[in-house]
Amino acid sequence: MGLTRVPGLLFGGDYNPEQWPEQVWAEDVRLMAEAGVNLATVAVFSWSRLEPREGEYDFAWLDRVIDLLHEHGVAVDLATATATPPPWLVREHPSVMPVDANGTRLEFGSRQGYCPSSPIFRAHTVQLARAMAERYKDHPALAMWHISNEYADHTVECFCEESAADFRKFLEKRYGGIDGLNAAWGTSCWGQHYTSFDQVEPPRKAPGPVNPSQLVDWRRFCSDALLACFNAEKAVLREVTPDVPVTTNFMSILHSLDYWAWAEAEDVVSDDAYPDPADPSSHVAIALSYDLMRSLRQRPWLLLESAPSAVSWRDVNAPKPPGMMRLHSLQALAHGSDGVMFFQWRQAKYGPEKFHSAMLPHGGVSTRGWQETLQLGASLKDLAEIAGTTTRAEVALVLDWDSWWGLEAPESMPSQRLKLKELLLSWYRPLHARGIAVDLTPPGRDLSGYKLVIAPNLYMCTPEQVKSLEAAQKLVVGPFSGVVDAADQVHDGGAPGPLRDLLGITVDEPWPLPDGAEQRTSMGTARTWAEWIRVTDAEVLARYEGGDLDGRPAVTRRGHVTYLSCLLDDLTPFLDGLTPVADVPEGVEATRRQNYLFLLNHTAEPARVTLREPGFDLLTQTDRQGEIELAPRDAVVLRIEGDQ
Ligand code: GAL
Repeated sequence: MGLTRVPGLLFGGDYNPEQWPEQVWAEDVRLMAEAGVNLATVAVFSWSRLEPREGEYDFAWLDRVIDLLHEHGVAVDLATATATPPPWLVREHPSVMPVDANGTRLEFGSRQGYCPSSPIFRAHTVQLARAMAERYKDHPALAMWHISNEYADHTVECFCEESAADFRKFLEKRYGGIDGLNAAWGTSCWGQHYTSFDQVEPPRKAPGPVNPSQLVDWRRFCSDALLACFNAEKAVLREVTPDVPVTTNFMSILHSLDYWAWAEAEDVVSDDAYPDPADPSSHVAIALSYDLMRSLRQRPWLLLESAPSAVSWRDVNAPKPPGMMRLHSLQALAHGSDGVMFFQWRQAKYGPEKFHSAMLPHGGVSTRGWQETLQLGASLKDLAEIAGTTTRAEVALVLDWDSWWGLEAPESMPSQRLKLKELLLSWYRPLHARGIAVDLTPPGRDLSGYKLVIAPNLYMCTPEQVKSLEAAQKLVVGPFSGVVDAADQVHDGGAPGPLRDLLGITVDEPWPLPDGAEQRTSMGTARTWAEWIRVTDAEVLARYEGGDLDGRPAVTRRGHVTYLSCLLDDLTPFLDGLTPVADVPEGVEATRRQNYLFLLNHTAEPARVTLREPGFDLLTQTDRQGEIELAPRDAVVLRIEGDQ
């Protein structure tokens, strides 16, 4: 059994039949069957067509669409259609639309126009979800529910009065009384002492920097408020269709939503991924987010949206050259996806996405794009046995949203240049280049099974988190960690706070480096960040050389725990003793999923790889051993005997 009741790998895309006359639908389903499509995401933005007036439903067209798909062997990832509230709702209840930080209420005319805390919005979404569930609960095509769409894509936060009231409730629950809030937010600073919760507002545009503790709580609240929208719909779906899995599509590694919390609420983790074809290294950052998706529930996930070629929302939208679509699709499989889905099936004729690529381009079946869709469909059939397999990683990268939110608070940090995603990538790049499998982890999980745990940054760090880190066989901690507690208040004695005993050092002062500056150390060049540290109980592995930090410790080790007080260009010395899944040249990615080895040539040149063990090539159905050649942007997937 795969992610849904559809066997094998899932293949398909967003299908928006309401944008086309019905005659076109017959061609759609015929071509879907030809390409091997087995799943279509339907009704994502259909609220205004399904409920054209309050309480008046028009399901007839959707009935015909779903029946037609079913007749052609295509199951349905059925959206609850709540991603864009309809005009009647907005006009009747303007409070449904979100308000920005300057107090401007946004207008109708795009999508995702809703205030997450609006009780009217939530009540109407739940009503529609119930109507959808009742209507389609017994339809054999129903494979999965797709709640809303990409939460926090356009609407991350809302600053209206209803959101303010909801924020106050969140704070009352968190702090009990106003004294608790005053203490946590340190309101003695800059004269912000509150005497009642009524005085507390969301962090709207203020004359100067806003209280950073307030900002962190606001991020927590906004993530939770959107999650509450998801959960409200999910509760109804569970009640009516308890056996149908539920998802909402994530947006790779996203600052605004704590996906550890979100994933717990999902049956199927799904992701939308849009690496830029013009960026030759985009496959690395996307691999990191795929690894996050796999790690969220530690099981297979689903690539629910990707682009067959160009997107339409960058300044310049580069197409994918021949082969790249298949390569990027197989990359998602390599990192644990149980399918490949696209935005969208048929290229739009109108609207902001009419130039966004699709599985079936404007030019129809004679286009290169369509031929590549057919090829991918065929490849996925050959790879069907991969569905359900898992990955074993030796390395875990710690990612904590609270730390992220604290670290990137505007205007109040030693440097605005420490960006969590970049810090994660600085470690991920060399691991990925060497073919070493990586999981991501929240700080609280059992980390004892990994050979190496890396916390690139844990700005916000609690004693409980330290306990889980202590269990690591080998731990590397990056700079500016253990600085503040959960309320964004500096730990007594400063950094590294609760990590002090584990690291055996203390940080006297952060020493951020100006843009472009280099700081030499005995282990190579550091940029962006350094620290003046003192060793209390650790050995010094590297020292700063030159400048004001000359001779001071830069990298230290205490037992199995290493601390880096700076951002070094070359992190490979810390990655010894790990097992690459294959030896690959630059630009070739090697990833293992149980007993399947994926070799992905991301370069525009042929590449050679010497196999360590023979395997069966699923795409060419041949035995392979010794040296093999990968054509430009080609992939080889081998079944190797024996488990990972
Ligand atoms: C996603 C969205 C889709 C489509 C796609 C285009 O963010 O969920 O509806 O807009 O981007 O790349």
